[in-house]
Amino acid sequence: MTVARSRVVVLVSGGGTNLQALIDASDAHDYPAHVVAVGADRPDTGAIERAAAADIPTFIAAPNQYNDRASWDVALADATAIYRPDLVVLAGFMRLVGPAFLERFSGRVINTHPALSPAFPGTHGPRDALAYGVKVTGCTIFIVDSGLDTGPIVAQVAIPVLDDDDELSLHERIKEHERELLVHTVADLVTDQYRTEGRKVVRT
Ligand code: GAR
Repeated sequence: MTVARSRVVVLVSGGGTNLQALIDASDAHDYPAHVVAVGADRPDTGAIERAAAADIPTFIAAPNQYNDRASWDVALADATAIYRPDLVVLAGFMRLVGPAFLERFSGRVINTHPALSPAFPGTHGPRDALAYGVKVTGCTIFIVDSGLDTGPIVAQVAIPVLDDDDELSLHERIKEHERELLVHTVADLVTDQYRTEGRKVVRT
């Protein structure tokens, strides 16, 4: 018997190691999700190359192709919807999605962030954690809402900051854990192993 696997669209802006982890996980036939398309906000990203190498359809929705942010938001939602995702994963997507996108995929968009939310939101989580001098940081997977990295937290891993860390070494160490956390969390989400109680996401 073949069990239908959940359809995941991944949105990216960068190198795509988190995307690659999901693609690699999908190679196992008992993994409950598979990546059906990859979208980016710019051409020529490593992540889009990774998708193409895996024969996964790609699309680009670059904000500068549109008159305003609202039109871009609708175009991104339309392009994503073509692939009928059960779950949308922002994996290094360095933009806030807008209201049209969130309305279309309500509660089914997650993001992965390289810090322990609510600390250090935004695009420089590891740099900001280092600058603050924290001894522990980590990564967070959360359900996307309209704020900047403010949505309900699904999963987190804490990672020590070492005295000789720089931004790159810290971010790379975070990403090793982040990829594993993302693969497990996507599997758990698409198999309904979480439910939401207000802001809290709890195990079923
Ligand atoms: C990841 O660490 C992800 O958490 C971060 O970008 C990196 C992408 O790496 N995202 C953010 O900072 C969003 N606020 P990758 O392209 O190798 O997957």
